[in-house]
Amino acid sequence: MPDLTPERIIRLEDDAVVILDQRRLPDAEVELRAGSATEVAEAIAVLAIRGAPAIGVAAAYGLALAARRGEDLDAAAAALAASRPTAVNLRWALEAMREDPSPERARALHEREIERCRLMAEHGADLLEESARDGARVRVLTHCNTGVLATGGVGTALGAIREAWERGLVEHVWVDETRPLLQGARLTAWELETLGIPFSVVVDAAAASLMAGGEADVVLTGADRIAANGDVANKIGTYGLAITAAHHSLPFVVVAPTSTLDPRTRTGEEIPIEERDPSEVSTRFAARNPAFDVTPSELIRAIVTEEGVHRPPYTASLPVSSGAAAP
Ligand code: MRU
Repeated sequence: MPDLTPERIIRLEDDAVVILDQRRLPDAEVELRAGSATEVAEAIAVLAIRGAPAIGVAAAYGLALAARRGEDLDAAAAALAASRPTAVNLRWALEAMREDPSPERARALHEREIERCRLMAEHGADLLEESARDGARVRVLTHCNTGVLATGGVGTALGAIREAWERGLVEHVWVDETRPLLQGARLTAWELETLGIPFSVVVDAAAASLMAGGEADVVLTGADRIAANGDVANKIGTYGLAITAAHHSLPFVVVAPTSTLDPRTRTGEEIPIEERDPSEVSTRFAARNPAFDVTPSELIRAIVTEEGVHRPPYTASLPVSSGAAAP
């Protein structure tokens, strides 16, 4: 049985940040030892560890390691901050670490993310309980990976699905494969299999026909950055899912911690979207590889944070001040 504990996903040891290398999953469980801030930044850039909260935790451990090694902290923080541009958790974690780059501080930040996940799972499951009409169990469609691997805690959207499953509210999970790096088909499927939750992997393009056929009740995703107006950047394909859900009058719900809220970004237009190497899409032909897209807030039925369920208008309902707060 695979080990899904937070320490297995990422931990700080005396001389390294130890990461379960997500590029190798589900075929092999291999640990990667990053021995400097630069190596942690590289692990983030190549997606050995990924998912917005998890890369925030990785950056925090990376800076603590740099401090212990006597590295130049400005250079270490700059390398970590440059590793991926979209998830605001990275910037947030580095800012939170600068005044006290100690291992204790980094572990406290990780603990706090674990607690946020636990609370989000409760609130998200409460919401699913409301949408489970006439006591019927829900069929949830999800995108990318938003579980233990993406957070170092129980997860965001997947944490809510897990909690709802434990409450007997979930019938089935449709797992978008999530082109081009298959975070759904490899990572979400692996987590759901480990947890014993019934699921099927589907190609990303199957979502519309599943909804048209009445086979999905709700779409749940995570987020990499939420602007002050409630626009959400998340894995490429999320925007299309939100449009499709709206067309079929299905709720599209985002689950994310306040460390993913960015009050300094007013709207989604200001969110930097990572462009990855086109070779991840095609090694033979010309390609483009935007890794995220922005879903406008008007398509989002609710945003769940650890503070509760927030509904439109998000400028009024989101707890925007907490995102910048210390862990
Ligand atoms: O490129 P990735 O795998 O880091 O993208 C991750 C996502 O888009 C997740 O949905 C997001 O980080 C939320 S995870 C809790």
